[in-house]
Amino acid sequence: MSYLLNVNGENRVIDVNGDTPLLWVVRENLGLTGTKFGCGVGLCGACTVHLEGTAVRSCTVPIRAVSSNSRITTIEGLSKDRSHPLQIAWIAEQVPQCGYCQPGMLMAAAALLREKPEPNERDIDTAMTNLCRCGTYPRVKRAILRASGHNGRT
Ligand code: FES
Ligand code: FES
Repeated sequence: MSYLLNVNGENRVIDVNGDTPLLWVVRENLGLTGTKFGCGVGLCGACTVHLEGTAVRSCTVPIRAVSSNSRITTIEGLSKDRSHPLQIAWIAEQVPQCGYCQPGMLMAAAALLREKPEPNERDIDTAMTNLCRCGTYPRVKRAILRASGHNGRT
């Protein structure tokens, strides 16, 4: 079946089985491999994208559950030139280690800042449930605070 999506500002038509997870549509059909596969069951957050501005774990969203012409933003669409405040803060705080979880972390953080532009530490702890096997959590938190205007200080 055909599905019309607006992905990172571009209209895209894809032809897949309705049970196909959004994650596979993004990676396999659209070739946007910045979004990662981790657990496949909604636990790790590596596959986080925005659906109509809300962070979703795309491995758990079958494409048939996505309304026609829905706005989807992936890590590739967070900014055109890596100028999103979170991307700048991520570099300043040297957040990534292996990097595998980081696209999902950034997308979850971007959704948090959209909803709450100046989160406190508790807000961040509540919102950021993504897993990182490299243990970058303290730097993730500092980067979110920096991006929200706290300049990384708690
Ligand atoms: S791959 Fe989707 S939550 Fe882990
Ligand atoms: S940076 Fe390696 S899993 Fe998070």
